Amino acid sequence: MSNIIIYGSHYGTTKQYAKELSRKTNIEAISFKNVQEINNYDNIIYLGGLYAGGVLGMSKTLKKLNNISSKKIIIATVGLSDPRDEINKNNIRNNIKNQISKEIFEKAKIFHLRGGIDYSKLSFVHKTMMKLLYNAVKNLPEEKQTTEDRAVIETYNKKVNFIDFSSLDKIISEI
Ligand SMILES: Cc1cc2nc3c(=O)[nH]c(=O)nc-3n(C[C@H](O)[C@H](O)[C@H](O)COP(=O)(O)O)c2cc1C
Repeated sequence: MSNIIIYGSHYGTTKQYAKELSRKTNIEAISFKNVQEINNYDNIIYLGGLYAGGVLGMSKTLKKLNNISSKKIIIATVGLSDPRDEINKNNIRNNIKNQISKEIFEKAKIFHLRGGIDYSKLSFVHKTMMKLLYNAVKNLPEEKQTTEDRAVIETYNKKVNFIDFSSLDKIISEI
């Protein structure tokens, strides 16, 4: 059985989770940018940072899979908003559904991890995207704000880190 951890990370929080998972499971972790032949692996664990609902690199990477009937696929998202919130979790899952084939979506075990953000490190484009998002949600009445909106408002222009390696335990059990 050959296993691989593949990660998509812009600013390193997803990479940190991937490396820790790799350390705990002895499975090699590589960036989606460096995956050579994904069909050589039996078990694929994909970790991706959330960017406007998209899981970084996931669609591009999993699209290359040919036959998944005997494979195990695990997907874990890393985002800023609290994945313990059911509405947030459902939103993330619905977004994932639109990014991969029905076959993979039905087969995959999906998990959610919390990352962080450091505004001083964001690219100009990402900073602008967050500013637009912040401006769109900051004046919404509280009852109309989602958990995601609140996470954006509370962390805007700050440096926050919600990384919790113990949240990897459920993924390790699944592996
Ligand atoms: C432009 C932008 C869009 C983002 N979109 C989302 C999002 O849709 N949902 C979410 O939970 N977090 C979102 N985030 C927060 C990132 O998912 C979070 O910072 C994550 O830890 C990034 O992973 P990385 O450090 O591996 O790149 C966004 C961050 C940026 C900069």
